[in-house]
Amino acid sequence: MAMACRVAARPLGLVPTMGALHAGHLSLTTQARCDNAILAVSIFVNPTQFGASEDFSSYPRSMERDLALLEEQGADLVFAPPPEEVYPAGFDTWIEPGAVAEGQEGEVRPGHFRGVATVVAKLFTIVRPDRAYFGQKDGQQVAVIRRMARDLNLGVDVVTMPTVREPDGLALSSRNAYLKPHERQAAPVIYRALCAAEQLWRSGEQDALAVLRSELLVESVDYVRVVDAETMVGVDAIGEQAAMVAVAARVGGVRLIDNVVLV
Ligand code: PAJ
Repeated sequence: MAMACRVAARPLGLVPTMGALHAGHLSLTTQARCDNAILAVSIFVNPTQFGASEDFSSYPRSMERDLALLEEQGADLVFAPPPEEVYPAGFDTWIEPGAVAEGQEGEVRPGHFRGVATVVAKLFTIVRPDRAYFGQKDGQQVAVIRRMARDLNLGVDVVTMPTVREPDGLALSSRNAYLKPHERQAAPVIYRALCAAEQLWRSGEQDALAVLRSELLVESVDYVRVVDAETMVGVDAIGEQAAMVAVAARVGGVRLIDNVVLV
C-alpha cells in the first residue's frame, strides 16, 4: 500500500533493505531503534538496480521470517510495496548519480546505481525519515547516497554502520546463501587479503595493492581498487583523506564484494 508517512513522533529512522534479513541488516535496525522515536524498515527487492542477466528473480525472499525478526527488533513500521506501486506504468523519471557511481560496481553493473539512487530517493520521499541507515559493506552505495542526499538537499541524515562479518571474516550478505559448501570455505580469502593489505599499508608498505592482488589470484577478481572513501575516485597515494580498498571477486559462481577503510 502506498503511504505518506507523516507521523507525529520524531525523529524517524529508516533502514532500507531488500529483505532476506541477516545480522548485517539487524545491526542497522538496532542502531536506528536506539537513535529514533520511530523505526521504519523497507523491504523491497528493487528491480531497477538489477542488470538483465542478474539475479532479480532468484534473489532470496523470506517475508514472513523478516517480519518476525523486525517485530522482535521493535520496528514500528514496515514498508513492503509491490513493484508496480513503486514503478507504475509510465514511470519515467530517474536519479542519475555522477562520477561517484562510475567506477567499481558502476563499471561492472551499468545502471545499478541509477536504480539504487532512484529507489532510495523514492523511499525517502514516501517515508520522510530524519535519518537513514546504510552498511559500509556496500561502500560505494553509501558514497552515492551521501552525495545524492547532499546534492539534492534531501534533508536526511545518512548514517553508516560497520560491516558485520562471520567469525571467519566473510562479510554477511544475502547472496552468501548461494555459496556451495566448498565455496563458502574459500570465501573468507577476500577479507583475509584485505586485512593483509591493510596491515602492510600500516607498516609503511606503499604497494599494498600488489599484495592484495597476489593474495586474491586464486579467485576471479572483477576489480581491486584503492579509492577516496568519499568521492570513490582512485588514489595513487593514501594520504590525509580516508581511502577505501574495495574488492569484487567471484567465488565459484557467486559474486562477492567487500572493502576496508584505511584511516
Ligand atoms: P540490501 O542488500 O538488503 O542491504 C540493506 C542494507 O544492509 C544496506 O545498507 C547494506 O549495506 C546493509 N548490509 C548488508 N550486509 C551488511 C553487512 N554484512 N554489514 C553491515 N551492513 C550490511 O543494499 C541494498 O539492500 C539495496 O541496494 C537498497 C539500499 C535497499 C536499495 O534497494
